[in-house]
Amino acid sequence: MKPLLVANWKMNTSLSEALILASGIKEGLADLAGVEVILCPPFPWLVSIVEVMQRHPISQLHLGAQNIFWKENGAYTGEVGAPMLKGLAEYVIIGHSERRRLFHETDQEIEAKIKLALAHGLRPILCIGESRRPTAEQLTDPSTLSEAHVRPVLHQLAMAIKGLSASELQRLIIAYEPVWAISTTVNAQTANGHYANQVATMIQAELRRCTKTAEAVPVLYGGSVNPDNAAEFIHQPELHGLLVGGASLKAASFLSICRQAIK
Ligand code: PGA
Repeated sequence: MKPLLVANWKMNTSLSEALILASGIKEGLADLAGVEVILCPPFPWLVSIVEVMQRHPISQLHLGAQNIFWKENGAYTGEVGAPMLKGLAEYVIIGHSERRRLFHETDQEIEAKIKLALAHGLRPILCIGESRRPTAEQLTDPSTLSEAHVRPVLHQLAMAIKGLSASELQRLIIAYEPVWAISTTVNAQTANGHYANQVATMIQAELRRCTKTAEAVPVLYGGSVNPDNAAEFIHQPELHGLLVGGASLKAASFLSICRQAIK
């Protein structure tokens, strides 16, 4: 499996900034065949960025959306339904902690979104992560991580993938993002590679309980990843890639992360 790098631009960039950023990343990726990259720009820029990507396309660059609504279509002012992304995005981020926290998204809504994404040919990037900060001991020696500390993460996972078939599960991508480590969280702390790897191991074990083909499901890490700490996360045995927020808004820093991901 090639390392997978997701750029979550969140609600940032003007149209011209987004086009420059997408073109810059595309240019830099042209000779980085060893990674797969998914750009997730804001909705209004998707159409224009598809055009950038279709001009001399490179196979390692893909497009994702940052969200979908939990209904297919109808009277839901301001929302975007999964069928609308046809031809625009191959992937969609679902259950990001900002959506859970700021928009009060529930596990049931997230479950419905995952099903809709799959039904409309989109690969969901399911975000899960605990809010509770680890103790200093848990952070330095993740083998001391208690089952209770990780329970919310496994609960979010179990709720989101309820009832999925083995073939649907294989289309899933998991992004483990401890909320306390996301750069925009107040007093964000950075996790470390061992900690992220330990939780990823527990996620893999939970996935194995649900499907025989759990190893087909990539588990990414996200939370304050930048060019200085990317290598520490990306080369952990149980992690298959990174979900990058702030550091994906500059082509140079995102490309530096991509370069470091090549084993
Ligand atoms: P960050 O964002 O890299 O800026 O911490 C990651 C995310 O929220 O997905």
